[in-house]
Amino acid sequence: MSQAKKLRKAVFPVAGLGTRFLPATKAVPKEMLTVVDKPVIQYVVDEAAEAGIEHFVFITGRGKAVIEDYFDIQFELEQTLKARNKNAELSLLSGLLPIAGSASFTRQQEPQGLGHAVWCARDIVGEEPFALLLPDMIMNGEKGCLKGMVELFETHGGNIVGVEECAPELAHQYGIVGVGEALDGGFRITQMIEKPAKGTAPSNYFINGRYILQPEIFKILETQARGAGNEIQLTDGMLKLADSQSFAAYPFDGQTFDCGAKDGFILANVFFAMQREDIRPQIEEPLKALLAALK
Ligand code: G1P
Repeated sequence: MSQAKKLRKAVFPVAGLGTRFLPATKAVPKEMLTVVDKPVIQYVVDEAAEAGIEHFVFITGRGKAVIEDYFDIQFELEQTLKARNKNAELSLLSGLLPIAGSASFTRQQEPQGLGHAVWCARDIVGEEPFALLLPDMIMNGEKGCLKGMVELFETHGGNIVGVEECAPELAHQYGIVGVGEALDGGFRITQMIEKPAKGTAPSNYFINGRYILQPEIFKILETQARGAGNEIQLTDGMLKLADSQSFAAYPFDGQTFDCGAKDGFILANVFFAMQREDIRPQIEEPLKALLAALK
């Protein structure tokens, strides 16, 4: 088992078609839609960096090349800003940019499900544990979700999934876990089921799109049969891995927004704008007035 190895790499599956966000996603990858002034993917990469991740692995697809360009230096733009002494604008570009050689990109080619997207990372990840962050979900908390998971991982090893509670009537939209023995900062998982039929979910704890997985998952995903939605499901692969390895859940305490859907994306924009000292004073009263006018 590779449990003692340090967590260094994170995988970001960004090949999804973004059908829940048409027509915008006809030409712009959903991961590049902006929440306030940063693309959605930047929030997720920042969360991974906060958790100590050193290598960023993107599983991309056709029409997603702009993501690779985004995580590169924009040389002409920077030179122009320098020449014009636009230092405030320049400082906005100096946010997280993976250092040379610490970002990898590979293509999924055909959408066959999350399990298949993760399997595409097997050679780049190799024989070490890795984090997986679904870029639709962006989160806000005193401590980032992945950072909290890394702490649990450092104590318990094995595999960890981020979870949150949902309303029982929404459980069929997610991967749901069964709750076992309590741990300091989480609990053991007894069961996992992807998109359970209504009324059959073992709990209200849904998998929130953050995972720390051992590399043995890749061998399982290679032969994983199609599951819910006729896709190769990661949750089904994890359930098999749970026969031989431990799985624990980390309940995340904070706000999560599903930016792959229009409502979550709009709420994320309002929420993150209201968190910003440079924006909140200008929008708070107009926002209240607008909401009042809608009544
Ligand atoms: C995926 C996972 C599911 C998880 C969800 C979180 O589903 O398969 O287990 O709960 O992400 O967003 P998807 O949203 O791709 O249908």
